[in-house]
Amino acid sequence: MQTAPITLTMTEHHHSLTICPPMSGLSLQGEIRVPGDKSISHRALMLGALAQGETQIQGLLLGEDPVSTAGCFRAMGAKISDLNAQLVRVEGIGLGNLLEPGDVLNVGNSGTTIRLMLGILASHPERFFTITGDRSIRSRPMRRVIQPLQQMGASIWSRSGELAPLAVQGRALKPIHYQSPLASAQVKSCILLAGLLTNGRTTVTEPALSRDHSERMLRAFGAEIEVDPETCSATVIGPATLRGQPVVVPGDISSAAFWLVAGAIVPGSNLLVQNVGINPTRTGILDALAAMQADISLENVREVAGEPVADVRVRGGAPLKACEISGDLIPRLIDEIPILAVAAVFATGITVIRDASELRVKESDRLAVMATQLIRMGATITEMPDGLEITGGTALVGADVDSHTDHRIAMSLAIAALNATGTTTIHRAEAAAVSYPNFTETLQQIIV
Ligand code: S3P
Repeated sequence: MQTAPITLTMTEHHHSLTICPPMSGLSLQGEIRVPGDKSISHRALMLGALAQGETQIQGLLLGEDPVSTAGCFRAMGAKISDLNAQLVRVEGIGLGNLLEPGDVLNVGNSGTTIRLMLGILASHPERFFTITGDRSIRSRPMRRVIQPLQQMGASIWSRSGELAPLAVQGRALKPIHYQSPLASAQVKSCILLAGLLTNGRTTVTEPALSRDHSERMLRAFGAEIEVDPETCSATVIGPATLRGQPVVVPGDISSAAFWLVAGAIVPGSNLLVQNVGINPTRTGILDALAAMQADISLENVREVAGEPVADVRVRGGAPLKACEISGDLIPRLIDEIPILAVAAVFATGITVIRDASELRVKESDRLAVMATQLIRMGATITEMPDGLEITGGTALVGADVDSHTDHRIAMSLAIAALNATGTTTIHRAEAAAVSYPNFTETLQQIIV
């Protein structure tokens, strides 16, 4: 194995990742594991904190986002052991028993933390909470959760434009049937969590099915949950009691996606990504890569603690074809669109991504940022209000690019750089730690 053509430069505040593939090319080989699923990690910490008794979590993601969730719930009385341990123990304090925190709750960069937690806080009577986060969080829309919670009777104050910081006066809420205009698991989960302490049926109906980890885990913790996939509806029947459970967090398919695309675009690669969660509400990336004719197969498919899991193999070299990514597929690959844009750059034909305007309000405006950064590397991309049109087949040339402090952008650009000629430097690459703290180490490990 030769020395990896990768250098990480750290200054006081930022890291830059420089990637310079050798003229002779490189390939990616090996068996790797990705960190725990971010969505499941947040929910395990939250439900563990709200349950009676102990929850033991195996495989928790030790990224910055779950660290923020743990910090918030510790500040409200949950006892959460060292997150570095193999097994994280959460001593719950029981639904309705959260303590009023003595300071502002800080969610850092985490949209899942602020939106899910808002449903929990709003339904805790006689407590007052204030919540803030980093610059990105303070610009992300909160109306989508504030408005349905207000329909349930919640008292929430926000900065103008319904932006964080937020203040919440917890009170007893009433159940509602909410027709969500968005297919958003954060909105759905917020309302279901608020419904736990109400008297009756709280239902959320979505225009398309979003990830269902909340429904699965709430049921495992003993809540009465009904789901109707036909109408994309989920119901919680309150008041609920949650009991602490063992949780096994599978590897995050959203993190595996970087290696699947990397393996597909770098000829001669052969990667096995082990222990990946393949919940059907998350596998849009596999469907899209199959439509692009990437050589990907599932091995050792099994079920672990209520979630389907597999080892996913990718072999490089199959010529990729353009495809269309739109409609109900979008919520099933919402976080994978930046890395799919990279795949599309190397696919023959025009890939069209539509119905994805939600990407404009993620950790960054992911449509604008991916378009501008890949164009700097020589890609041909037209930005549309709700998507991207990517003309594949133009060779990429190394350039200076920027993550815009968005973890998925940082990692997507690093993968693009593997198949570019010359040197690419990704500025503010430290953002990757939000969901994938050892991304660079794994990249170094698989380059041959
Ligand atoms: C998440 C839901 C998605 C996703 C985010 C995690 C979750 O957001 O983009 O990274 O854990 O519920 P939306 O629900 O806003 O689409």
